Amino acid sequence: MKCHQLLCLLWAGMATMASADVLVIAHRGASAYLPEHTLPAAAMAHAMGADYIEQDVVLSADDVPIVLHDLTLDATTDVARRFPGRGRDDGHFYAIDFSLAEIKTLSVGERVDGSGNARRADRFPADEKFLQLPTLAEEIELIQGLNRSTGRDVGIYVELKNSAFHAAAGKELPAAVLQVLYAYGYRNAGHKVYLQSFEPATLRLLKDHTSIRLVQLLEDKQLTEARVKEIASYAQGVGPWIGFLADAPEFVVAAQAAKLEVHPFTFRADQLPRGVASYTQLLDYFVRELKVDGLFTDQPDITRRYLDRLR
Ligand code: G3P
Ligand code: CA
Repeated sequence: MKCHQLLCLLWAGMATMASADVLVIAHRGASAYLPEHTLPAAAMAHAMGADYIEQDVVLSADDVPIVLHDLTLDATTDVARRFPGRGRDDGHFYAIDFSLAEIKTLSVGERVDGSGNARRADRFPADEKFLQLPTLAEEIELIQGLNRSTGRDVGIYVELKNSAFHAAAGKELPAAVLQVLYAYGYRNAGHKVYLQSFEPATLRLLKDHTSIRLVQLLEDKQLTEARVKEIASYAQGVGPWIGFLADAPEFVVAAQAAKLEVHPFTFRADQLPRGVASYTQLLDYFVRELKVDGLFTDQPDITRRYLDRLR
């Protein structure tokens, strides 16, 4: 059906305004430019215009929430060199086996593979290891400090990494994270914070203890309407892997109809999905066609500029 020219222009204008509201979520900080989950990476993401900065969180042996993507320290620190003999039988060095004081002695750098080679070419030099792992509290203090000094209001987006693993070791990751969040004033859905997890049980538990917005991460192909309905019973958002979303675009409509925000991961300008010609093309599809509500990205700067151009 052909629409009246003026109505078409109005509709196009509204669509453009909606696109500009898409959240830029800095994935592990500005991780394309500085080692992931370091304070400089978080500061850079703040300066680059991120709306939210992501923290993956695990516990130390003394129950302090630290910002680290993996359960192990192997891929981003010099733990094997500093603490030889502290690995488990599987050869890995688990953060949960080290006190915060020990973790603070580690040097952090760009992610490497099992052979010590950088996982992504052309990022920060992997042999530069002069940074430290932050606690969740330290990263929050940095972001709140920058919010005050810049007048911006950047939020935090905390992922609980494998609560089941922690529970098996007698540790309560959800309770430890909530304690830190509450101490820094993040208490409910009106505050600039999301909690995310791949584990439905973790989110269901959180729902019973907090009104902070919850996001169910999804890396499987079960993006059915029944799944959407189930998730909407305990969460306010979903974070699907972009590869699966590209195969099931109708999931976005179904999720949004169930009042779930849709924040897919992970958008990388230096690692495009197969068949995608440019980062702009990738963003065009997810922002202008699928109309997602937010994007996890390693490049908050490029993503911010793209969205600002839509305004
Ligand atoms: O939390 C969204 C995205 O970060 C999930 O993937 O493995 O990078 O934590 P991962
Ligand atoms: Ca994450």
